[in-house]
Amino acid sequence: MRMGKKFYIETLGCAMNVRDSEHMIAELTTKEGYEQTENLKEADLILINTCSVREKPVNKLFSEIGLFNKRRKEGAKIGVCGCTASHLGEEIIKRAPFVDFVLGARNVSKITEVLHTPKAVEVDIDYDESRYAFGEFRTSPYKAYVNISIGCDKQCTFCIVPHTRGDEVSIPAELIVQEARKAAQSGAREIFLLGQNVNNYGRRFSGEHPKMNFTGLLRAVSEIEEVERVRFTSPHPLHMDDEFLKEFAENPKICKSMHMPLQSGSTQILKAMKRGYTKEWFLDRAVKLREMVPDVSISTDIIVAFPGESEEDFEETMDVMERVRFEQIFSFKYSPRPLTPAQDYEHQISDEVGSMRLKRLQERHNAMLDEMKSERVGKICDVYFEELRPGGMIAGRSDNNMLISVPGSEELLGKTVKVRITEAGRTSHRGEVVA
Ligand code: SAH
Ligand code: F3S
Repeated sequence: MRMGKKFYIETLGCAMNVRDSEHMIAELTTKEGYEQTENLKEADLILINTCSVREKPVNKLFSEIGLFNKRRKEGAKIGVCGCTASHLGEEIIKRAPFVDFVLGARNVSKITEVLHTPKAVEVDIDYDESRYAFGEFRTSPYKAYVNISIGCDKQCTFCIVPHTRGDEVSIPAELIVQEARKAAQSGAREIFLLGQNVNNYGRRFSGEHPKMNFTGLLRAVSEIEEVERVRFTSPHPLHMDDEFLKEFAENPKICKSMHMPLQSGSTQILKAMKRGYTKEWFLDRAVKLREMVPDVSISTDIIVAFPGESEEDFEETMDVMERVRFEQIFSFKYSPRPLTPAQDYEHQISDEVGSMRLKRLQERHNAMLDEMKSERVGKICDVYFEELRPGGMIAGRSDNNMLISVPGSEELLGKTVKVRITEAGRTSHRGEVVA
């Protein structure tokens, strides 16, 4: 083992990328004797874990690695990893010959191989990474990300992910439970289950496996004694059947925040997106969820200006927003992606119209958040504290995912405590510990 080498890593994109980076960090530190550094200039290895969901960050990639190239220590290696690596493959080395290797999102476990293979390009999207062939590393001692599946079998017509992460394969339940137990026993009381489409869990395993769906998996993970909280992302609205909603509502360890990626409120656009549900189905699920779990918070993803989106279609999205009153919205202007059908659809919407719709949606949502603020003050919730903040503050999340900080110090870290909200903001709140 070579000692004393350092690596710098930048992680873009979703929670799955964060977990992939943790896997790479584990491999580099346990097998190659590397140490992580925040200082680019002292790194012997520079990694960028990329996202390709929208066009802008992809365009920025080459200027960013150009900058790494200029600033790097002499002899330092540069590796491009993640979804853009899967998508562009060797083109990355053609355009940026100083890049030492390209490692796709489904080839993370090969990090130690590519490190020693000049100009390696490992981007096989059929590679079986469902066996957790990684060492141990977690960014937070209090919360553990655990992958439950890789890839995505849906073919949403705007989305590049199935082309960068490949077909969906579920990870064997016994491995997930083992991983969750290990993390919880070492102090991570919150387990965060990850997949592109978590509630499709169990459709395909890479080997023989007893039948198990997502509801069954949720039960199995929450039966682990040391686990206090279970979260997951992302579920698909289409697979939110009654059995799943019931488990969500009745299992006390499952945190009461649900991500329901709407994408569009227009049934016609949903059809063009191949989302598989209608506006009515989505509303029915959201209403049912609010009935079953009065304190639930619902977050969503919305795309505006998908090809063919008329003013009326956009109004349907606004209508769903009015009715569901999402606690959090991640909203995006449609971005045409290579390899996806929607990029070739007629009636692409101009950037100007897209920006206007995005602005309208965000302004209205901010106004709704301002209305919700006053309802929050005085509420008492259970907060699991995870992070020290400047000025003698400590922050954590309520069961329903509100970010709350209170005056306090280390002794609260990793503990769940009752907190009264004293000041509410749009995205984070202040509170005080209730004695
Ligand atoms: N499986 C994940 C989706 C991953 S992509 C899920 O269901 O949440 C994350 C989000 O990026 C999507 O939900 C969508 O809102 C957005 N997105 C994906 N492709 C996009 C595109 N071409 N243009 C704009 N936004 C996009
Ligand atoms: Fe993308 Fe749709 Fe899968 S948004 S990740 S293809 S569920």
